[in-house]
Amino acid sequence: MVEESLAFEFVRVVESAALESARTMGQGDGESADRAAVQAMRAAFEQIPIRGTIVIGEGERDQAPMLYIGEVVGAPAQPGFEYPAVDIAVDPLEGTNLCATGAANSIAVLAASEPGGLLHAPDCYMEKIIAGPACKDALDLDAPVKYNLKAIAHCLDRQVKDLVIMVLDRPRHQELIQQIRTAGARIRLIGDGDLSAGIAAAVRGAGVHAVMGTGGAPEGVITAAALKCLHGEMVGRLVVNTPELHERVASMGIRDPKKIYTVNDLAPGQQVIFAACGVTDGALLHGVRFWGEGARTHSLVLTSASRKVRFVDTVHMSKAPGGRGVRLY
Ligand code: FBP
Repeated sequence: MVEESLAFEFVRVVESAALESARTMGQGDGESADRAAVQAMRAAFEQIPIRGTIVIGEGERDQAPMLYIGEVVGAPAQPGFEYPAVDIAVDPLEGTNLCATGAANSIAVLAASEPGGLLHAPDCYMEKIIAGPACKDALDLDAPVKYNLKAIAHCLDRQVKDLVIMVLDRPRHQELIQQIRTAGARIRLIGDGDLSAGIAAAVRGAGVHAVMGTGGAPEGVITAAALKCLHGEMVGRLVVNTPELHERVASMGIRDPKKIYTVNDLAPGQQVIFAACGVTDGALLHGVRFWGEGARTHSLVLTSASRKVRFVDTVHMSKAPGGRGVRLY
């Protein structure tokens, strides 16, 4: 896999999904927003010289018409050219409801690696604790909340009361929220989007020190791909709580459903690429901005082997000539 050159190809893929879904912002129609992102992402993959396999996608083949698990994506094969094989995890619109309501932090996102480099996680929940590189080996999913908060505070050389913890605002988190409050840390409740929250926790200056709680397992794997590139910390455990899920997990080759995963378990690849493009404005990325003559997108692309963190600011010029030209911000 040619990590560096593919990274830029993947920026185009997330840009396409962001551009299309951003047009639906605030329309109150999550399904249309998601459909627009999926179709655009699927079409963009057709331009990329890869033998891509979707390992985390929109669901099983019979549930999803495009970007389903196992679907092969990439440019049509050319005689004499051997395209690289790539495993791909996609979330064409992470934070569907955020886009539908025009709220912050919805992104179009994907992760990729050489084959076998991303855990094939089932579409279930995952318990997660996510923090930055300073918290190396300090997180313990089985420890009391206050223990983890003390450990994070210690690693960050601050007090528990100075921490900001992001938690999905869900009834299932009532007890967790209470425990964080009792321990004295500050909380930012989010309506959706624990993937971008996880990335924010792994970078300095985003004003968030950890993410705690239960969110999607697919989002967990994609977050881990980003954390691998950012050297962030994460522990996660699948929530396998029905006989159907036990069966599903076993059929995916996961022997221990209670296993606690680290970043390297979730994204074991040697060459991991993560690409995200802002759909609505967020803490890390601007949302798509449209004007008469074009649009501007803001993306983040991370590569693990070449250890690059790039922010890509793209002006997409309209076909029509004339107008007032590109604006420098
Ligand atoms: P979608 O945009 O794909 O719907 O996911 C949004 C999200 O908030 C994720 O960030 C999170 O992991 C998951 O949903 C939580 O699931 P639920 O809404 O069922 O609590």
